[in-house]
Amino acid sequence: MPTVRLDGETDFDGWRTAARRLRAAGVPPEAVTWSTESELFADEIEAAPGASAVTAPAAFVDLARDVVLHRSPSRWDALYRLLWRLKDEPRLLALATDEDVQRAVHLQREVSRASHKMKAFVRFRDVPHPEGEAFAAWFEPPHRVLEKTAPFFVRRFTAMRFSILTPDLCAHWDTRTLSFTPGEDRASIPPPDALEEAWTLYYASIFNPARLKVRMMCKEMPKRYWRNLPEAALIPDLIEKAATRTTAMVHADPAQTRRRVAGRAEAKADPAPSTNDTAPASLGAIADLIQGCRRCDLWRDATQGVPGEGPHDAPLMVVGEQPGDQEDLAGRAFVGPAGGVLDRAFAEAGVDRARLYLTNAVKHFKHEPRGKRRLHKTPNAGEVKACRWWLDSERSLLRPRVIMTLGATAAAAVIGKPTPVLKARGQAILLDDQSQAIVTLHPSYLLRLPDEAAKAEGFAMLVEDVRTAAKLAGL
Ligand code: URA
Repeated sequence: MPTVRLDGETDFDGWRTAARRLRAAGVPPEAVTWSTESELFADEIEAAPGASAVTAPAAFVDLARDVVLHRSPSRWDALYRLLWRLKDEPRLLALATDEDVQRAVHLQREVSRASHKMKAFVRFRDVPHPEGEAFAAWFEPPHRVLEKTAPFFVRRFTAMRFSILTPDLCAHWDTRTLSFTPGEDRASIPPPDALEEAWTLYYASIFNPARLKVRMMCKEMPKRYWRNLPEAALIPDLIEKAATRTTAMVHADPAQTRRRVAGRAEAKADPAPSTNDTAPASLGAIADLIQGCRRCDLWRDATQGVPGEGPHDAPLMVVGEQPGDQEDLAGRAFVGPAGGVLDRAFAEAGVDRARLYLTNAVKHFKHEPRGKRRLHKTPNAGEVKACRWWLDSERSLLRPRVIMTLGATAAAAVIGKPTPVLKARGQAILLDDQSQAIVTLHPSYLLRLPDEAAKAEGFAMLVEDVRTAAKLAGL
């Protein structure tokens, strides 16, 4: 029985070379032992004389590159089984009901979920560095996803010197080169710093007791990650006090209620990172599928796609431009400063945010790094066009009576042509699907206005337009 010794736990190239040879030599999967133990001897496998070279479709290679990152000891074997069968069944990967395919896709999903969670849950701390500022984070991924995920952090924090330490491997970015060193142990975690406090404050501020669903929260932020998340220390207390805080919110003066957040379809584990052209069957499906959207490049630097949220029969849809920094981290639309302005406008117009569907023309956060900050960048026409597929899917599922657009990007995405906001605002515009659009100012624009009088004037316009839209929608 041939034994193949691989050069490490993620030795894809070694596996590929050996698997091709084994396949060409006609060695069946049940006859092979795969090992990453260094003391074992490897067998030399010769291809059978006259055997043709083994090739595999690109989709298999992509799948295999992910699957090898899984911690399951049977991953090598699962992949070789597929490679073995692909020769006679070239369309095998399309058979979603096949057990071998299902197994490999399941492993890939778990790897992709681990990578996604890593993007969301790595928390950097300030560390001393002879050349100035530097950051380090300790992280314990359930699968070996550091090499796969490190380029994401490089793109996001290009100007920042950082290390991500894990038990398997450590990644280091010195603002020019990404390098890797062997894994560390937990004792190498840098001590807490002020950033930690910022995370804790931020988390406490976005926690909405009225929408607490403990099961869903644990699914989104699995307990295995808690011990390395500074904000997780707050969770037991926030849960315990949720009921009391909700009662207080219900009895509070509505004009003072801020940041009421509408219900959201439950976010699911990462779907396969593909672009699907089949119309999604529900708003929940959209929330899932945008996590794998590759219609433009904005997904690369974003933490996650931010879906719309609100009741599936909301008569009024509110469309913003794109998620901001806080929305990108929280995975929810309008939870940052612009959302605060919008909530004040809703409260002043007497409109309950929980009855509206809030979404964005573009679902990923476009930004550029500036030191530790991520500065908003306006999406270009190509990005808005690419994302219109999602917006149109939301519109056709929701069929809202009225769509209120915030700012120029949303107006162009909904109306289908550039529309001057100040000129067009507040008047109903009939859309092709017989719904009506109300164009208004973007709340971020109000935040940027330098003088208080202009701010107040702009805010009054926003409130007036919210009232018009709500009335048209029958709210
Ligand atoms: N700005 C937007 O346009 N959308 C958000 O979700 C947040 C800020």
